[in-house]
Amino acid sequence: MICVNAERLEQEIKEMGQIGLSAKTGGRTRLALSDADKAARDLFCRWLRDSQLEVRVDPLGNIFGIREGTDRSAQPAVMIGSHLDTVKDAGMFDGAVGVLGGLEVLRTLNDNGIKTKRSIVVADFTNEEGARFEFDMMGSSFYSGAKTAEELYSVTDDYGATVGGELERIGYRGNDSVSAGHYIELHVEQGPVLDAERVQIGVVEGIQGLAWWRGEFIGEANHAGSTPMRLRHDALLGAAELALEVEKLAGVIGNSSVGTMGRIKPQPDVINIVPGKCSFTIDFRQYKPELLVKAKEEITRAVEAIAAKRGLACRFEKLTDVDPVFFDKVMVEIVEESAKKLGLSKRRLYSGAGHDAQFLARRCPAAMIFTPSSGGRSHCREEWTDFEDITNGCDVLLHSVMKLAIINC
Ligand code: GLV
Ligand code: MN
Ligand code: MN
Repeated sequence: MICVNAERLEQEIKEMGQIGLSAKTGGRTRLALSDADKAARDLFCRWLRDSQLEVRVDPLGNIFGIREGTDRSAQPAVMIGSHLDTVKDAGMFDGAVGVLGGLEVLRTLNDNGIKTKRSIVVADFTNEEGARFEFDMMGSSFYSGAKTAEELYSVTDDYGATVGGELERIGYRGNDSVSAGHYIELHVEQGPVLDAERVQIGVVEGIQGLAWWRGEFIGEANHAGSTPMRLRHDALLGAAELALEVEKLAGVIGNSSVGTMGRIKPQPDVINIVPGKCSFTIDFRQYKPELLVKAKEEITRAVEAIAAKRGLACRFEKLTDVDPVFFDKVMVEIVEESAKKLGLSKRRLYSGAGHDAQFLARRCPAAMIFTPSSGGRSHCREEWTDFEDITNGCDVLLHSVMKLAIINC
């Protein structure tokens, strides 16, 4: 049975993993539209061209490598992909496995002289992580039509740089695109299920919804020695109380809800000053639409109640809001059948992490393939997946794509 080139795939994931690598921590940082992201994009485009693929870039910097099909009247392309940006101090698998696994599928078809009726496209979507510009799945939300380029160009990072400006600066503000008729994304699970159960392939049925907010409590900066506790308006304590409320709320809403305050920044951030301001972010996720709606209401209520109780002013804004997604049943079956054909153990599951597939599913039938994550670790430099598992996942991708793209004998 036809299989991908495991050695080439491993070597390319490792080579990509060198970009943004810190010798000090062992993690890599390729924040969206940074110089490291540009270097990753340049390398990917070189590999696409070396593989005789046509390269297109759209207005949000999404990169597409196109392998033409033989039948111009066939359905729009089968798209495969993910993202090359990373969070801070990341492992080498999150996102890169889907993009480079997609490229490996196309190379395998080339190597074996296999022609398909439908075109196949490998995609690198811009700013999936939202770690620099706090709007995750940005490129895919544009591609799916959920957001316009104008809405997204003005999103800023912590230092005031804009998405539009940074796309120009790194030379990836394009004006082209390509249509997708189906989408499949290979990704590491980033959770503990497959590793704990020693299952090789995760057949993903859906992705939980999420909401992100950014806020700031504004109190009164004052002397840490001479200001009695009862007279303080400590902005950091507002954020601290909110963090505990978010934890409590995840339990109260239940159904495996998760809530995180990943950033809390007091100002002026000095040892002997009562913090006068404190900015914070909230990430809340849940699978059931109605429970996510309830959580969103409760969070807004908690912010207002804490501000009132502590005599703080507050600013609070929603950054992004993504509904839960349930993948197309036929696509899920195609992935499952491919794993079965390859003799791999498999189970169905839902994704806790967000993915570009969440937005692609609005545009066309979509599905995802997961490979195990060692110890369930991800978004940290300890993230690891054995290359044998990645090869298995890529083989499932290859066979699923061949089924959709219709082979010409
Ligand atoms: C993206 O990686 C997310 O789930 O936050
Ligand atoms: Mn990812
Ligand atoms: Mn991620």
